[in-house]
Amino acid sequence: MKKKINIDVDEYKLINKTTPFAIKEAFNHLRTNLTYIPSKDDGCPIFGITSAMDSVGKSTIISNIALSFAQAETKVLLIDSDIRRPVIHKFFNLPKERHGLTELISGIEKDDTKIITQYEQAPSLHILTSGFVPHNPSELISSKKFSEYLKKWKYEYDIILIDFPPVGIVTDALTVSNDITGYFLVVRANRSDSRSINSAIATLDQVNAKILGVILNDLSLKNNSSSRYHYTRRSYKYYMEMTNKNNEAKKEPSDI
Ligand SMILES: Nc1ncnc2c1ncn2[C@@H]1O[C@H](COP(=O)(O)OP(=O)(O)OP(=O)(O)O)[C@@H](O)[C@H]1O
Ligand SMILES: [Mg+2]
Repeated sequence: MKKKINIDVDEYKLINKTTPFAIKEAFNHLRTNLTYIPSKDDGCPIFGITSAMDSVGKSTIISNIALSFAQAETKVLLIDSDIRRPVIHKFFNLPKERHGLTELISGIEKDDTKIITQYEQAPSLHILTSGFVPHNPSELISSKKFSEYLKKWKYEYDIILIDFPPVGIVTDALTVSNDITGYFLVVRANRSDSRSINSAIATLDQVNAKILGVILNDLSLKNNSSSRYHYTRRSYKYYMEMTNKNNEAKKEPSDI
């Protein structure tokens, strides 16, 4: 019998010593931009990441932003709110079968401090994995408990980052929109189409969710979509404040 090879092993990658400088800089630049966005009210800002379609790189990007913040000694809480297809545990090598967000908001777990993990390699980073996949994800994620916890964590962290599923597929990202400072929409070069992106923007607009910017992922310098992990300065391009009519300041698109 043939041994199954785990092809995921290389996929869930965090920035590390061998990551090219340009990519590290890209995430640092993104981190710096986020630092200047104030919270809506008291407590720290809460940023969500979503997209129109799936597999555009949301979890990869938010995990690396979280790590970049932690390396700068910012106390960051990273929440895997994609309870249908959770992957954050893979990036940080945490067991999948452990209690997380779903157990917390369903009341199975009463003490958040017991299930939030401090990441050993960067102790400023605290991670709340998604927990077990529930049979009623929509009801669970819209429970007011989630919002209550966010209001509490706002006073315990410097920044909260939430990985949501694609808003173009399920509306989970909107259930706590009142608590979210703003959302980033990830677009993947050669995959995301403008119709679904516009529709995702309209969906967020409907609930007055603030879209802080669009992150363009996987853009090749040579526009060669067949190459994997284009670790060039243009792999992650970042456009600030360009999509939402609610935004006060308009800035020019800038590379990170
Ligand atoms: N710039 C990139 N170059 C090559 N592969 C990438 C890039 N960004 C992400 N990927 C790969 O694409 C796949 C999807 O990435 P990821 O899980 O981060 O996307 P996602 O938007 O969170 O997906 P989902 O919608 O399922 O939550 C992963 O295998 C990841 O390694
Ligand atoms: Mg994801």
